[in-house]
Amino acid sequence: MPIKTIIEPFRIKTVESIRATTREQRERLLEAAGYNLFLVPAEYILIDLLTDSGTNAMSTEQWAAMMRGDESYAGSPSFTRFREAVQEIFGFRHVIPTHQGRAAERILFTVMCKKGDVVPNNTHFDTTRANCEFVGAEAVDLPIPEALEPARVHPFKGNMDTARLAELIERVGPKRVPLVMLTVTNNSGGGQPVSMENIRAVKETCARHRIPLYIDACRFAENAYFIKLREPGYADRTPRDIAREMFSHADGCTMSAKKDGLANIGGFLCTNDDSLAQQEKDLLILTEGFPTYGGLAGRDLEAIAVGLNEALEEDYLNYRIVSTAYLGNHIAREGVPIVQPPGGHAIYIDARAFLPHIPPANFPGVALAAELYLEAGIRSVEIGTLMFGRPDADGAEHPAPMDLLRLAIPRRVYTQSHVDYVVEAILEVWKRRADIRGLELTYQAPFLRHFTARFRLLAASTAPHGASRENSTRTRSARPGAEGTR
Ligand SMILES: Cc1ncc(COP(=O)(O)O)c(C=O)c1O
Repeated sequence: MPIKTIIEPFRIKTVESIRATTREQRERLLEAAGYNLFLVPAEYILIDLLTDSGTNAMSTEQWAAMMRGDESYAGSPSFTRFREAVQEIFGFRHVIPTHQGRAAERILFTVMCKKGDVVPNNTHFDTTRANCEFVGAEAVDLPIPEALEPARVHPFKGNMDTARLAELIERVGPKRVPLVMLTVTNNSGGGQPVSMENIRAVKETCARHRIPLYIDACRFAENAYFIKLREPGYADRTPRDIAREMFSHADGCTMSAKKDGLANIGGFLCTNDDSLAQQEKDLLILTEGFPTYGGLAGRDLEAIAVGLNEALEEDYLNYRIVSTAYLGNHIAREGVPIVQPPGGHAIYIDARAFLPHIPPANFPGVALAAELYLEAGIRSVEIGTLMFGRPDADGAEHPAPMDLLRLAIPRRVYTQSHVDYVVEAILEVWKRRADIRGLELTYQAPFLRHFTARFRLLAASTAPHGASRENSTRTRSARPGAEGTR
């Protein structure tokens, strides 16, 4: 009988100590941070599942390549290796390096969009939405309806609703839609993949109106592997081959190499359009740097060139997808409500279903993140009303479609025993979920408020168990001095 256990396809050469804290220390730290885990210093975190972005462990091959990094200001051979690696997988004519994904987004939207434009996406990530809105365009999310039902199982819950896309383009007119974006996998929608069939269908709709399609490619390798596992006709194709086909339907992409680039920093913007590329490079020089380094060191370009290829290795992808599902399946089996099926880079707990007594306006995802930190020193992040909701002019919160708690898994960093510890901690919190209290905002910034928001813990009596959601969405939150929030 062949052995069935799927192991980490690497061994550990360098270790980094992590440190446990006491519950009393964590209580003090959390209060000092205004219940926002972004504001807790990392040395007081035991297991850090805040993000899979830039938290990757690099391989010996990446470190070796970094030693070859050529730091010439212009025309570095490290850039040539980087461009070749990107072109070999992504296939676009122009490759513009940036310091991370959001810099690529800023340049793309600045060059392509203006006030009054509309940019559809399956779901805009927070920085994508913010950069789009910053230039005065409207960011519209068009996920398929299944994506908004956390417990619903669907193989490609990241798909875009193509009927709504066509209807939107008809309604506003193609002139107001400078580009359409598809985020693979759909981070804000639960790390769910987009099928090749959907990419093709979105492209067809775009092509009918001569609108370019851009892919937000952060997790392209994980998406390609899901296509291999789940989409008829792809089982015998390699992830690399599938990735190439995905990008063959697009006119360009933005990429954060901090995800499936297996690097700690970096990104790029690609396009097939010569005139756009020129404008983008001009803008790049203004804020990022010369087009052969774009805000990165030569050694970073080398690490990304190797990392993009390692991210497509099949035994790595198998371990990656299976180990993420391991966490999701172990908590779901005990009744914890999660977004189903488990995503590629993260498990998303449905915080509204976990804490039905906390209304969205009192941020159940943030409350759950705080509790998990108090319980076991684990850091996670809310993807919900704090990140995507909006207060109206009177300060009343308009909830996001879902309130999720994301447990993002850094690549090649934690072992199975770390994950077993996380499972145990979540199940402890699940047992005493009825005692968890909601939060009230005491500070929020006008953009991307989740990074710096501060909260106060509500008294137990203000969030009665069973409070109806309808009533609760009208709960007011303090918003001192905040104008025009997202
Ligand atoms: C889907 C998606 N797009 C864009 C970004 C932005 O990338 P960066 O953090 O490198 O700016 C992220 C980062 O998490 C993301 O998940």
